[in-house]
This record gives sequence, structure tokens and C-alpha cells, in this order.
Amino acid sequence: MIQVKIFYGKNDLRNFSYLVLDKKTGNSWVIDPYDEKPIVDYIKKESLTLAGILNTHQHWDHVRGNSALQSIFNCPVLSRESNKIQLDNDQMIKFVDTPGHTSDHVAFYWQKAEDVLGLFSGDTLFNSGVGNCHGGGNVEALYETTNRLKNLQDKVLLYPGHDYVLKNLLFAKSCEPENIAIDEALRIVRDADTEQGLEWSLGQEKKVNPFFRLNSQEIQQNILKGETIDERNLFIKLRSLRDNW
Ligand SMILES: [Fe+2]
Repeated sequence: MIQVKIFYGKNDLRNFSYLVLDKKTGNSWVIDPYDEKPIVDYIKKESLTLAGILNTHQHWDHVRGNSALQSIFNCPVLSRESNKIQLDNDQMIKFVDTPGHTSDHVAFYWQKAEDVLGLFSGDTLFNSGVGNCHGGGNVEALYETTNRLKNLQDKVLLYPGHDYVLKNLLFAKSCEPENIAIDEALRIVRDADTEQGLEWSLGQEKKVNPFFRLNSQEIQQNILKGETIDERNLFIKLRSLRDNW
């Protein structure tokens, strides 16, 4: 059975790293290792083998633990060319191009045959938000990528690269004050230990994430104030408002 263990990198950037593991074989793969120490301890405690390292993009906080893990476990960093990684007989991780936050950003679909179970989104999609485009990104590409991810099924679990959920929900609330799903999400988040990860589904994101809700009349009225622009430009406007939030 494939499981996901979440590691919270205790830093101001609030990074998440993930260990995907097969309890049966003991094989594991790490995604975006920030702090190698707790990951090493866990791998040793559970007698796992680290089969490979995956990175969604090359920003330092997503590759910081690579070299230590490589030298301790003598395992490869798996490149985009790997295309997919077989986890067990029928489950796999598939590389998916998700440009926007950076031009060569990839996400990982956790799939059982053709069925997508989870999305490791790096800095493309966060709980109730999307990544910024400050460090070599392109907001139009991020719009296209976000639209494609929106087509995934509601049940797909989201594993984002950072814990920014509280601030993102407050921004979402400012865009869409009447959306009661945001109030409910804020209640959950204020009571939860978000450092453990939320594992919200994309269905939840479709209810609260303003970047998934460009057709919301309330968002359009609040942001555009009578101006008529298309969804692409509304996305760009929202991203720029969030930059200064
Ligand atoms: Fe990044």
C-alpha cells in the first residue's frame, strides 16, 4: 500500500516535503526535501530504502536537502526525462509540466492506473492560492497551468509545496466575502495544526480558491468594479493583488 508522509520544514517559508512510500517493499521517494534530518530519521526508523529524489523546481528551498540525502542513501535525483516512476504494481508517479511559477516547474500526479489520486503541486497550486511569479515565472503560463489542473477530479488530494493556507484564505475572503465555504475553511484552519498538512481535495479548492473561481460573480464585481475583462486578465489581476496583500 502506498502512503504519503508529510514533513514540515520549520522555516519562515513554511515548506512541505513529502515521502511517498510502499510499506510492503520498503521503497520510498522524497519530493522537494527541505530539511533532510527528520526525513533521514524517519527512513532509518522505518527501515525504508530511499529510491529517488524528485524536485518540482530548482528554487533553493525545494532542493535544499538533495545533496545530503544523495550522499547518505546513494540515490539518484530523478529528472523530468524519467517521465514516470512505478511505485508498485499499479500505482505510479507521473511528471507533468506545470510552467508558471518557474518556466520548467513540474508537478507530480500520484496515479493508480489512469486514476489520479493525488497532486504534488510544488509552488504551482497552494491551498486556496497559487504560486507567485517573482523568481523567473510567467503569470500567463500560470493561468494556463491552473486551468488545466482545475480539470482534475474533485477527489484528487492536494499536496502543496508550502503552508500558506491561512493568509490565502484571508485573501480569498477579501475577494469573495459572501462565500460561506471560505468561512467554514477558515474555522477548520484556525483549529487545525496546518503544519501537519491539510490534504484538501481539489473539490475543496474549487469552493474556496479564488484562482479556481474566476467565474464567480462576486469576485468579478469586487475585483473588476464594472470593468470588463476576460478570465485570463482577471487571473493576472488577482495574482498581482495577492502579491501586495
Ligand atoms: Fe519556488
